[in-house]
Amino acid sequence: MPEADVGGAARDDGGRFVVDEHDLPAGPLDLGHELRCRPPVDLDIGFGKGRSLLEWSTKGFGGTLLGVEIRRSFVEHAAARLAKAGVCDVRIVRGDFRALVPRLGPAGAVRRCFLHFPDPWWKKRHQKRQVVSAPVVASIVGLLAQGGEVFVQTDVPERAEEFERILSSGGLDTARCAEGPAAPNPFGTRSNREVRCEEAGLPVYRVIGRKP
Ligand SMILES: C[S@@+](CC[C@H](N)C(=O)[O-])C[C@H]1O[C@@H](n2cnc3c(N)ncnc32)[C@H](O)[C@@H]1O
Repeated sequence: MPEADVGGAARDDGGRFVVDEHDLPAGPLDLGHELRCRPPVDLDIGFGKGRSLLEWSTKGFGGTLLGVEIRRSFVEHAAARLAKAGVCDVRIVRGDFRALVPRLGPAGAVRRCFLHFPDPWWKKRHQKRQVVSAPVVASIVGLLAQGGEVFVQTDVPERAEEFERILSSGGLDTARCAEGPAAPNPFGTRSNREVRCEEAGLPVYRVIGRKP
């Protein structure tokens, strides 16, 4: 596959690939061509310091994980950790997931989308900052293959209820995972915040939505 011209700021160092949304071409973005993902593709939205990217790469899922994170300092931190660990099957876009995901394609190319501890706010006035909203879920559902999954976890029980409602309204079959410190993440791709919860013995609330 020919490599896309994603601008001078993209780094492609032995298969590791980090790009800023401003350096991507305008318009639709093909996961294979512009973002150099090999199928099946998984997404990790708002990966923070990137522990979940590293853990994903050790699980042998095959394919590529595309991480999207808005904070530059987190992107740099995660990219350095991936490079140090020699990880080659993870791509990173620094940018706003809400603008990026509706541009991704082709439809049906995504196997799984991870949303580890998004939206830690639950007050009404914070709703406009929310990452998990009905329009965003609709874009993700369009990208999912049949049987593809959205996995959301949180330490705020009210948010778990809200996520379940939004995923279900988006046409996904939803289920809650077992809860509590003794119930591990079923995919083993633990995020930074998840490990902090584990260490503090705090419950984590998990929802899986599956595309019928
Ligand atoms: C509560 S933190 C969780 C970080 C990580 N997933 C974890 O579980 O440790 C939420 C993350 O989402 C990122 N984020 C928030 N809004 C975003 C957006 N619109 N696009 C991309 N990332 C976003 C934040 O910068 C932050 O790193």
